[in-house]
Amino acid sequence: MAAVFAFTVFAMHADDLTALDMSTASAKRAAYAELLKQAEALFHGERDWLANASQFSALIGQQVPELNWAGFYLNRDYPKPGSELVLGPFQGKVACVRIPFDKGVCGACARTGEIQLVEDVHAFPGHIACDGASNAELVLPVRVNGVLWGVFDMDSPRHGRFDQTDADGMSALVSLFVRACDWS
Ligand code: SME
Repeated sequence: MAAVFAFTVFAMHADDLTALDMSTASAKRAAYAELLKQAEALFHGERDWLANASQFSALIGQQVPELNWAGFYLNRDYPKPGSELVLGPFQGKVACVRIPFDKGVCGACARTGEIQLVEDVHAFPGHIACDGASNAELVLPVRVNGVLWGVFDMDSPRHGRFDQTDADGMSALVSLFVRACDWS
């Protein structure tokens, strides 16, 4: 709570963030509850989507253990449905820039509008290997006013890294991100 308060006063101080433990199911649930508070504090007083998307990627990349990439791919045709994703704010190594909706895990998420929880990316047909270190992936749709605005993608070197608790926790965080921004 002290760290959250410090954010609201000083806007942002990375050193106030404490590393999150996700080593057990209950610790993971508690960590996602804490992440929601940290994200709320981070967005406080700021409604610019680019600033908030950048901070969101940094927060997830920094706080969620065992990730090698975390970030947005955007439907730049929004509010039209679109057919291709373009790289947005992220944390991690340089990545593929454009992903058609019919390619990869991110494309599957954009095409179906459904969360993609992939335990082994090498078994996923059409997976795009931006970073050879990635073995598991979680991709969530980001909808604004009911239309696909983009996806949020997380990669991990550990097979089976993501489970339903990650999907639920990240869904709540993505919803908070959408509510925290102006979209006009
Ligand atoms: N693996 C993704 C591509 C994006 S990178 O992981 C950053 C996919 O198959 O869509």
